[in-house]
Amino acid sequence: MSTKERIAVIGAGLMGHGIAQIFAVHGHPVWLVDDKEETLNSAKDRVRTNLANMAKQGVDLDEDILVIVERINTTMDLSEACEGANFVFEAVFEDLELKQNLFVDLDKFCPPDVILCSNTSVISITEIAEKAEHRERIVGTHFWNPPYLIPLVEVIRAEESVGWSTSATYDLLARVGKHPVHVHKDVPGFVGNRLQHALWREAFAIIDEGICDPATVDEVIRNGFGLRLPVLGPVETADMVGLDLTLAIHNYILKYINADPTPSTTLQAKVEAGELGFKSGSGFLEWSSSDIGASRQRLANYLINVFAEEQKQAKGGNK
Ligand code: NAI
Repeated sequence: MSTKERIAVIGAGLMGHGIAQIFAVHGHPVWLVDDKEETLNSAKDRVRTNLANMAKQGVDLDEDILVIVERINTTMDLSEACEGANFVFEAVFEDLELKQNLFVDLDKFCPPDVILCSNTSVISITEIAEKAEHRERIVGTHFWNPPYLIPLVEVIRAEESVGWSTSATYDLLARVGKHPVHVHKDVPGFVGNRLQHALWREAFAIIDEGICDPATVDEVIRNGFGLRLPVLGPVETADMVGLDLTLAIHNYILKYINADPTPSTTLQAKVEAGELGFKSGSGFLEWSSSDIGASRQRLANYLINVFAEEQKQAKGGNK
């Protein structure tokens, strides 16, 4: 019998099937729920394909893919998935009312020592937990897409979450190879999306003002400071260049950087015109179907290579 915690994942979409995969790879029995039969039925095939692609590019899975996939049980019955679960990860649509009602049901099906996690991208965990009774065990776990390749998970402490629930969640995530971080305040966008969208706001403002064209914005990042980002974040970089220089730069530049609370005018106009990016073939840039495939493949290859390299180094270090 497995001694590993039993995991329930609610929502078998883009994020949910990937979260289920993480736990299955690390030997946990997983129950995956979706209210759409088609999505549920395809989930294990999607996991199988992800794992096959990873193995093809050099990731060592330690076990046969079939063995891993068979740890995932699928059901449309929430109460069945919750039975005996130690942790529940919610990954349904980004809709506050849907999530609030789901946590009321989870609260009924799971004894108070079961930890309930939400994978919301931006919604306040405190608000999601509002209607539930045992709010102390409800925490935010913000995974990034694809969750099985991107290590970061923000563990968010809601107003009423308590230390045992956030620390047990953090420990579980660390044991399955994720890189959890504690977020002490339940603020919109948590940490990662605040940082990400601060950069996007300025990128789009530069386009609005005609300072350079859209492709050049990405070129500047990818060939410039973006090369440093996987190695040094802004905090370490500021220490490296000196806080006196950083302060002098901020004293001069901050007044010129966009702080508008409304979205970019170009972004709004494009959405109004139906220019949605990959979805419509045209966004800030033009996209043929082969460009779209190539872009997706480039990202997947890069992330899998980084994952494989880190795994190799970790295994080398453990010798
Ligand atoms: P998705 O649309 O791919 O999947 C959501 C799934 O939930 C669907 O399969 C749907 O049938 C199912 N569902 C809806 N109501 C349900 C219910 N009552 N019971 C069972 N299943 C139900 O969405 P995605 O992208 O996986 O997002 C899920 C959550 O993760 C959202 O809160 C989203 O904001 C968050 N998130 C998404 C990221 C992304 O890049 N897509 C990144 C990080 C977080």
